[in-house]
Amino acid sequence: MKLCIALDKSSAKENLELAKEIKDFDVWLKVGFRSYIRDGKDFLNELKKINPNFKIFLDLKLYDIPNTMADAAMEIATLDVDMFNVHASSGKIAMKTVMERLSTLEKRPLVLAVTALTSFDNDNFKDIYNDDISTKATQFAKDTFEAGLDGVVSSAFESFDIKSNTSKEFITLTPGIRPFGEDTGDQKRVADIALAKKELVDFIVVGRPIYKSENPKEVVKKILDNI
Ligand code: C5P
Repeated sequence: MKLCIALDKSSAKENLELAKEIKDFDVWLKVGFRSYIRDGKDFLNELKKINPNFKIFLDLKLYDIPNTMADAAMEIATLDVDMFNVHASSGKIAMKTVMERLSTLEKRPLVLAVTALTSFDNDNFKDIYNDDISTKATQFAKDTFEAGLDGVVSSAFESFDIKSNTSKEFITLTPGIRPFGEDTGDQKRVADIALAKKELVDFIVVGRPIYKSENPKEVVKKILDNI
């Protein structure tokens, strides 16, 4: 299992300071809307300057018509990132189009699809998708697998079921992790490390429990010791 740290701090300077603090650990960094919209490509380059071995997950959750998504995916592939994501609810055709286009490249980043946001509880989810989270998340995962993507973003609670319905190698990346029972914030389906391990999760994403702590380096070390 790998640790992916969400760089969701309020300025590039603070995110880079956090990256410097944890540069000696074998971790992935997640760059999301907030920092990418504000700090763009230069920020990604700055991260690689701190440690060229940092792996970067660009969490922009693409959702659009197939051609626009494929165009965006090709632009992402020109950046120095190792993984990015789309929404599975954009549909199988859009996801297939993205993968077909990327397959023309010699090297491409890993591509994941979001099944259900971890901030949804079952009622919120059902209002939009007319189905229970567990049923629909598995269906979205099957679509994603059939479209040729590398894995899904889901809650830790769905990871085992998703792998059983696709493949053991199909990647699961799970946000909403509170490693040692920290404050949940807006996340509804929260899991700790023990549950993530039991569910065979490949990547845990941790944001606030690390970047809001007094000593992020200590928390990262403790998480890595536990996984
Ligand atoms: O602070 P916290 O650990 O809750 O951060 C989780 C991170 O994972 C945030 O950057 C959030 O945008 C992201 N994320 C999520 N749920 C998803 C996909 C991404 O919480 N399904």
